[in-house]
Amino acid sequence: MSPAEARQEIERLIAELEHHNRQYYQNSVSEISDFEYDQLLYRLEELERQYPEFRYDYSPTQRVGGTVTREFETVEHRSPMLSLSNTYSIEELAEWDRRVEKGLDGEPFEYYCELKYDGVAISLWYENGILQRAVTRGDGLRGDDVTANVKTIRTLPLKVAEGSGLPSTFEVRGEVFMPRDVFHAINRERAASGEIPLANPRNTCSGTLKMQDSAAVARRKLDCYLYALMVPDGTVDSHSKGMALLKAGGFNVSGAGKRCQNLGEVSGYITYWRERRFQLQLDTDGIVIKVDNLRQQRQLGATAKSPRWAIAYKYKAENVSTRLNGITYQVGRTGAITPVAELEPVQLSGTTVRRASLHNANEIARLDIRIGDFVFVEKGGEIIPKVTGVDLSRRSHGLLPLEYIRNCPECHMPLVRREGEAAHYCPNTEGCPPQIQGRIEHFIQRQAMNIEGLGPETIRGLLDLGLIADVSDLYRLSFDDLNGVEFTLISERKGGESRRSLREKSARNILESIGKSKSRPFSALLFGLGIRYVGATVAEKLAAHFRSMDKLRQAGFEELRAVPEIGDRIAESLLRYFADPDTDRLLTKLRESGLSFSQEQSGMPSEGVLSGKTFVISGVFSKFGRDELSDLVRKHGGRLLSGVSGNLDFLIAGEKMGPSKYEKAREQNVAIISEDDFLKMLES
Ligand code: IVH
Repeated sequence: MSPAEARQEIERLIAELEHHNRQYYQNSVSEISDFEYDQLLYRLEELERQYPEFRYDYSPTQRVGGTVTREFETVEHRSPMLSLSNTYSIEELAEWDRRVEKGLDGEPFEYYCELKYDGVAISLWYENGILQRAVTRGDGLRGDDVTANVKTIRTLPLKVAEGSGLPSTFEVRGEVFMPRDVFHAINRERAASGEIPLANPRNTCSGTLKMQDSAAVARRKLDCYLYALMVPDGTVDSHSKGMALLKAGGFNVSGAGKRCQNLGEVSGYITYWRERRFQLQLDTDGIVIKVDNLRQQRQLGATAKSPRWAIAYKYKAENVSTRLNGITYQVGRTGAITPVAELEPVQLSGTTVRRASLHNANEIARLDIRIGDFVFVEKGGEIIPKVTGVDLSRRSHGLLPLEYIRNCPECHMPLVRREGEAAHYCPNTEGCPPQIQGRIEHFIQRQAMNIEGLGPETIRGLLDLGLIADVSDLYRLSFDDLNGVEFTLISERKGGESRRSLREKSARNILESIGKSKSRPFSALLFGLGIRYVGATVAEKLAAHFRSMDKLRQAGFEELRAVPEIGDRIAESLLRYFADPDTDRLLTKLRESGLSFSQEQSGMPSEGVLSGKTFVISGVFSKFGRDELSDLVRKHGGRLLSGVSGNLDFLIAGEKMGPSKYEKAREQNVAIISEDDFLKMLES
């Protein structure tokens, strides 16, 4: 292929990929499968590797990230990024409307209403239709250059669609946000690894934009709505036309924008979105009302802080008061205790609220909340409502200050509080029913061992009958154990309980699923163990690096820290987990049941001539590299240990092996064999 041909193909691939990107993200149409898309992308990557001179800034390969920014450059905005003046009342809005009318000397005008997105403001600079620079708002005058990170946003065109009518060079401003689904997925993963959940999508989005590794940003799937096209006078004459141009150019413009003729229509818009906004993928805290005509906008001008042609109407966070009937305490999988407010049911933002989280003992003390109090409950953008305060004017006499529980509500073990942590914990890891249940539920989930058919009620039933006590017992269940097991089904909605028993067919399905789970990869098992801070992604990293449970267990602090993305906290947690004698017992049982304890061996323990034997490889070899020898050991069912110990069967010794290892092996009576001896073992 000549360079000219390569260039042509690269350009064709870019256009094709961007077309599919637009179809997918803007029009929700998939003309090709993900696989086909990836094939095109790989082909493009390949060509760009061969012909780096044709690696364009606007290539879709730039979206997957890979740039590491040590420090974000500070950049001055072309014009200040102003803020909006706020109002919470229709009366104030009417005053503003009168000021606008006066400012325009009675000339007729129209409004354009939009939602006020609660994300992170961004300014984008396009030159010759290509995204050159993305800068955060900063202090309004200068912000941080976060271009590499912003390029990972799939809905942003890196190159403007041809024939859109947009000028070739322009600035556009908008709001970067993290879709709610993405935010919840991150928090689910954090919860699964026992981490504190992130507070809200806005802060997470802001943190993500400042991440140094753009590949990590790409995984977080940010999105962006545009709300201001900045072009020289005369290019377009209204804001609404500017939005239409942006849409034609391939930008993500919210469909919620609407032209309004007067305040009455604006007020209708406000009412329309008051509740509906909670169904959107991003948080909104109000609406923005803009004078649509750009000439009129200029005529009205701006104060130092905000334009006179726009205003934000903010929704008050809905807030009601209701009676606190009691407090219950939930025990999580990690033993963490969460106090929950049990409320007199109350309507709030379209749903009935019965419970609200109280977070921890500090929060209860801060609120000085007492049972029988009337408390304010608020729902912001979050799904779970929160108790924001106590209505002291309605407090009855004689309500007693609350005493936080000292013992576990489930197993009655005295609670502990670790230094630097707000939560209380039940230390009875092995004997506390909800902790055991939580670990089992964690273990069987889809991303972990993917065992189907076992609902929380069935698990409870099996625990109560003493048929299981930990996850390893699942692999000892027989058909007779499961068939007919009784459990209680609690229906929160109907408020009733009913006894059920497991049918034959379900019992068989569960057993089959348990059997299948044995071939889940090592990384899935590692995640399923529920080690604190080891979520699915971390488990994959660890599995890929250490390749076996034994190697992982033998790794010291420094060795763990050496793995990319493994920090002190995860390393310490792993060391704590593996140092626990209970872990030892559990892993032995799981290994006996035939689960994958290493990366290569998936499914049943490898049967082979080396099965059950342990090896350490040391030194330099003539026929094979060390890694090849390791692969041979694993392939034939042997296990590799990382150091010489009493458990070791064979030391495969090469040239230049360290003398201390040799000595230690002799002391421990380990068989020391050569490369050739090893090959003979394989042949036998
Ligand atoms: S227009 C002169 N439109 O609100 C201000 N801003 O308080 C031009 N915002 O920093 C901004 N949604 O980040 C505009 N539909 C919208 C908006 C919006 C959210 C943010 C923006 C700005 C802040 C102003």
